[in-house]
Amino acid sequence: MENRKGDYNAHCLILPYPIQGHINPMLQFAKRLRHKRIKITLAVTKFLFNTMQEFPDFVSMETISDGFDEGGRAHAGSLDEYLERFSLIGAKTLMELLEKLKNLDCAIDCIIFDPFLSWGFEVAKKSGLLGALFFTQSCAVDNIYYHVYTGKLKLPLSDSEIVIPGLPPLEPKDMPSVIYIHESHPAALKMLVNQVKHLGEADWTFVNSFYELEQEVIDSMAKFSSVKTIGPTIPSMYIDKQLQDDKEYGLSVFKPIADACKKWLDERTPHSVIYVSFGSLAELGLEQMEELAKGLIASNKYFLWVVRASEESKLPKNYAEESSEIGLIVSWCPQLEVLAHDAVGCFITHCGWNSTLEALSLGVLMVAMPCWTDQSTNAKFVNDVWKTGIRTRPDENGIVRNTEIVRCVELVMDRDEGKEIRRNAIKWKEMAREAVDKGGSSDTNIDEFVSALMNPPI
Ligand code: UDX
Repeated sequence: MENRKGDYNAHCLILPYPIQGHINPMLQFAKRLRHKRIKITLAVTKFLFNTMQEFPDFVSMETISDGFDEGGRAHAGSLDEYLERFSLIGAKTLMELLEKLKNLDCAIDCIIFDPFLSWGFEVAKKSGLLGALFFTQSCAVDNIYYHVYTGKLKLPLSDSEIVIPGLPPLEPKDMPSVIYIHESHPAALKMLVNQVKHLGEADWTFVNSFYELEQEVIDSMAKFSSVKTIGPTIPSMYIDKQLQDDKEYGLSVFKPIADACKKWLDERTPHSVIYVSFGSLAELGLEQMEELAKGLIASNKYFLWVVRASEESKLPKNYAEESSEIGLIVSWCPQLEVLAHDAVGCFITHCGWNSTLEALSLGVLMVAMPCWTDQSTNAKFVNDVWKTGIRTRPDENGIVRNTEIVRCVELVMDRDEGKEIRRNAIKWKEMAREAVDKGGSSDTNIDEFVSALMNPPI
C-alpha cells in the first residue's frame, strides 16, 4: 500500500459518469495529478468495471453501484429512473467506499465529481472533504446552462438572437439542442442544466478547456465562479512535453483495428485523407447516412470512416466493398492516433467536445456536422470564433446533402478561401500545447490545485 508521506502528497477520488466522453478527460486529468504526486482512486460503477478490457495503471480502481450492476443504463426504464437510482445507491456506496479507504489508512482528501453526478459534492461535504467539479463540456456551454438554471435565460426561447454575457450573439441553431426539445426530453434537460448546480459552491471548478481558447467566457463567468481550465486533456504522447515518457493506456482495446488503421494511413500521402467520425453516441438518419456516403465518394479523396456496429445497417448496400479503393470503414479507431497522423487532411465531425478539442489541439481542420446536445454550440465556435473549420449547412429538411459535404471538404483542404482556416489550425495547435506545457495556463491551474491539496487550511 502506498504511503501518504513517502509516495504521495494527497489523495483524490475521481467520480465519472460512466460514458467514454466523460471518463477519458477525467482520466487524463488524473494522470497529470498523478505526475504531481497526487494519489488517484477512480470510482466506477460495477457494471462498467466488469466490462472494461484494460485498466489504467496510474490509478487505483474501486467500484460503487448505480443500482444496475448487471446492465448499467440500458437496464433502466428511463434516464430519469437511472439517475434517481444512481443518486440514491451511488451516494450510499460511495460513502461506504470512503469509509473503507479511511480504515485502510488511505483516506480521501478531495472528490472530483462529474456534474452529471452532483450528489458526489453532497457526499464530499457530508464527509468533510473538498469537492471539485469537473466539466467535460466547454465553458461556453456550461455558461449557457448556468443561464438556464438560474432563470436568466427563459425557456422556451422567443428571440432569434440570443445574448448571453461572455458569448457571441447566438442563433437558435447554435444553442445546445436540449434547449429546443426540452418539452419532449425533460429528463435530459434537467440532467444537463443541473450540471451547474454546485457552480460557485464547489471548492474547485475545473473545465476541460484552456484559458486562451475561451478567455471571454471565462472572464465573464468569473462574476459567479472561478473556473479553472486544465485542458486540453490530450494524452502526453500527442501534446504534453512534460509527460512525454509516460506509458499510454486505453480504456478499450481494439488492437487489430488500430493496427489496420495505422497501416492504411501509412500508405497515404500527407493531408490526403478525410477522417469521419460521429463519436460514441450520435446516430445519423438513413437519408443523412446515404448523403454522407455519396459525398465521400464525390469528394474524390481517400477517407477513413468510423461507422459503429449499431449504424452499419444504414450504409448503402455493398458500400464498403465498392468504395474500398479509396475508403476504409471501421467500427472504431484510435482517434487520437488517427488525428495525429500526417495523412489526415480534415475531420468530418459531430463536434462532441472531446473530438472538437482533440482536432483543435492536433491542428486538424474540421468540417462540422453537429447532431445534438452541445455539438451545435461547439460547431458555432469552430466556424465563427476559432475559425479552424467550417460548419455544414443542412437543407430545409435538416439534411446535409452530398454536394454540401464536397463543398466543405474542398474549402478546408484545397481552396484559397480555406487559407485562413489552415493558418488558424496551426495557431491553435501551438496555443493548446503551450497551455499544458510547464508554466502554461492549464499547468499553472493544476499546480495551484496541487499546492492547495498539500497545504489545506487548518
Ligand atoms: C458525448 C456527447 O455526445 C458530446 O456532445 C459531449 O461533448 C461529450 O459526451 P461523444 O458523442 O462520444 O460524447 O463525442 P466526443 O466528446 O467527441 O467523445 C468521443 C471520444 O471517443 C473522443 O475522445 C474520441 O477520441 C474517442 N473516439 C471516438 C475514439 O477513440 N475512436 C473512435 O472511433 C471514435
